Amino acid sequence: MKSTQQQWNVGDYQQFASFVPQLGQPLLDLLQPKPGELVLDLGCGDGVLTEKLVQAGCEVIGVDSSPQMVEAARARGLNASVMDARDLIFRQEFDAVFSNAVLHWVKEPELAVAGIARALKPGGRFVAEFGGQGNVKTIEDALINVVSLCGFDGKALSPWYYPAPETYQAILAQHGLYVETIALIPRITPLPDGMRGWLKTFAGPFLKPFDELMHELLLREAEDRMRSVLCDKDGNWHADYVRLRVLARKS
Ligand code: BEZ
Repeated sequence: MKSTQQQWNVGDYQQFASFVPQLGQPLLDLLQPKPGELVLDLGCGDGVLTEKLVQAGCEVIGVDSSPQMVEAARARGLNASVMDARDLIFRQEFDAVFSNAVLHWVKEPELAVAGIARALKPGGRFVAEFGGQGNVKTIEDALINVVSLCGFDGKALSPWYYPAPETYQAILAQHGLYVETIALIPRITPLPDGMRGWLKTFAGPFLKPFDELMHELLLREAEDRMRSVLCDKDGNWHADYVRLRVLARKS
């Protein structure tokens, strides 16, 4: 999904981050999709979860800001279009808006929430999971510190927005979306292919100011800084995920 700066590579995503949609079942359970419902999958990516919504009998429109991801979703036979989360064009059409692992890329949450609220019918539900307060803190801190050492503003380069539940709940309420459940869910997540694949897939915006020769050096230094926390003595890496899971309803 669009993050102003992140470039998506479908192959890297499928190789190094397939666990992201695979861990989406609890969110589908929270949505409780019903046959015949019209659902917007916001940030559908390559369509792994969109397909599950279709299998549940829903009519689903997927949107994603990455043309490459939309192409991959269409290759599964899904109805998907390129659209930025901050510029949703829908008006009172959907029974539900569903979104997994996307909204932490949107640093202007009010724009996304306003569009989600407009897209829902009255009584429609918004069901989402994304990075919450403290998400991948060890990883983000290491990246910020390494690029800051090179004279760049690491915090400004970070593409991520990880709100506390109260903060997000207040934004939702300002747009007429009333929370039924919201919670931070710490989830230590194994990275079977190591930290490098994760960084390659997700940390591009931190490397933007540097030429390619520097990338290897920076990523190795960042890995060294997180190793004692995120890698066990046998070399198995994990990520310190904290998810924010929310169900809200339009009044
Ligand atoms: C994710 O898609 O799960 C994710 C990506 C970047 C940072 C944190 C989480």
